[in-house]
Amino acid sequence: MSSILSQTQSYPTWSSRWVFIMAATGSAVGLGNIWKFPYITGENGGGAFVLVYLVCILLLGIPVMVAEVMLGRRGRQSPISTMRQLTSEAGLHGFWNSIGWLGVIAGLFILSFYSVIAGWALAYIPEMGKGTFQGVDPIESQLFFDTLLADKARLIGWQSLFMLMTVGVVTCGVVRGLGAAVRILMPLLFVLLLAMLVFAYREGDFAAAIKFLFWPDFSALTGRSILEALGHSFFTLSLGMGSIMAYGAYMPVGTSIGKTVLTIALLDVVVALMAGMAIFPIVFAHPGINPAAGPELLFVSLPVVFGAMPGGLAVGMLFFILVTIAAWSSAISLIEPAVAWLIEKRGFNRFTANIVLGFIAWTLGIGTVLSFNDWAGFTLGDFTFFGAMDFLTSRIMLPLTGLFVAIFVGWVMPRATPQSELDGEDSLMFSLWLWVLRYICPPAIGVVLLVGLYDTFTAAG
Ligand code: PHE
Repeated sequence: MSSILSQTQSYPTWSSRWVFIMAATGSAVGLGNIWKFPYITGENGGGAFVLVYLVCILLLGIPVMVAEVMLGRRGRQSPISTMRQLTSEAGLHGFWNSIGWLGVIAGLFILSFYSVIAGWALAYIPEMGKGTFQGVDPIESQLFFDTLLADKARLIGWQSLFMLMTVGVVTCGVVRGLGAAVRILMPLLFVLLLAMLVFAYREGDFAAAIKFLFWPDFSALTGRSILEALGHSFFTLSLGMGSIMAYGAYMPVGTSIGKTVLTIALLDVVVALMAGMAIFPIVFAHPGINPAAGPELLFVSLPVVFGAMPGGLAVGMLFFILVTIAAWSSAISLIEPAVAWLIEKRGFNRFTANIVLGFIAWTLGIGTVLSFNDWAGFTLGDFTFFGAMDFLTSRIMLPLTGLFVAIFVGWVMPRATPQSELDGEDSLMFSLWLWVLRYICPPAIGVVLLVGLYDTFTAAG
C-alpha cells in the first residue's frame, strides 16, 4: 500500500475519498457521540431532544459542513490562512478572518476539557481489567467515580497521558500520523460498538430504551435544550472550529463534497444512536440508575452492569478502550488546525508546534480537573470552570462560527467560488444547498442562539 497522501501536487491530499471519509469520521465520532450525546439526551428528556438534534444535523449541520469542506479545499491551507486568502482574494473585510481565529481558539478550549474526560476513560481501562467493578452496586460505583474525581494527581496523570498520545500522532504528521491512525481506528470502533449493542440487547431493557430515545415528549423541550441540540449538532460533526476545514484542505479535487459529507454525517448519527441504544437499555434495566445523571452517566451506570455480568469486565474493558480510541481520533483533529497554522505562518516545525499547543491545552485542562474537586464550589452562574468551557465552546463559539460560515459562503463570497468548487455536484442539489445556506441557516442559527442564551441566563439568574 503506497502512501496515504499523494504528494505530487504542491499541497498534500488524501489518497482517496475513503481516507478523507475515515479521517473526517474519526474527527466527528468521539466523546460527543458516546459520552455527551447519551448524557445530554438523558438530561433533556429523550425523544423530543433527539428529534431536534436530528433536524439540526440535517438542516444546519450538513449544509455548513459542505461549506466548510468547500472552503478548506479552496484554500488548501490552515483555516486561518484559508480565510485570510479567500477574504483578500475577493477584496472583503478582514472581519471574516475571525472565522479562522474563533475556530482555532475553540479547538484548543475543547481539547482542554476533552483530554480530561478522555483521561477518565483511560483510567477505567485498567480498573476494568483489575476487577475493581466486580459485583459493585450503584453506590459503590458512584463512590469509585467520586474518589477518582477527587484525586487531582490521578486525573492530571491520565489527562497528560492522553495529551501525549494526541500530540504524538499529530507530530508524526498528516501522512504517517493521521491517515494511518484513522484507517485502523475507525473500523475497529464500529466492530466494538456493535458488540456493545448486542450485549445491551441481550442483557438490558431494550424496549424502554427505544421508547425513551424515539418517543418525543415535547413538554420536556425548552429554549435552552434546543440551543443544546444545535450546539451539539455542530460539536458532533466537528463544525465551527476549523477541523473539517483543515481536513477539507487535503481533499483531492474532483471528489464529490456533497456525497462525502452525507456519508460522514450518516456515520456520525449512526454511532451516536448506537451508543444511546447500547447505554440506555442497561440504564433502564437497573432502577436506581438515573438517566439524567449528567456527565457521570457513562462512568457510574455502566460499570455496575459490567460488574454484574459474567464476562462483563472484559466487555467493559473493551468498551473504555473504544471510548478512548474515539476520543483520540477527535482530539487529533482538534489540534491539527492550529498546528498547521503555526507551521505555515510562524515557521514552527511539527514537533514544536505540537508541544506548544499541547501545553496550552493541557494547562487550561487543569481548570477542568479542578472543577471536579478544589474548584467545585467556585461557580459562575450555575457553571463550574468545566461547565463554562463547555458552554462557551459548544453553545456560543461553534454556532457563532457556523453562522459566520453560512453568511460568508451564502451571501458574501463571490458566487463563482462555490460554483467552481462544487462543479461536479448535481445542479438541483447545489441550488438546494445554497438556498438552505442563505435562507434557513443564518436566521435559524441566529434565533436559536439568542433564544437559547436568553433562556439559559434567565433560568440561571
Ligand atoms: N466531534 C467530536 C466529538 O463528537 C468533537 C470535536 C468537536 C472534534 C470539534 C473536533 C472538532 O466528540
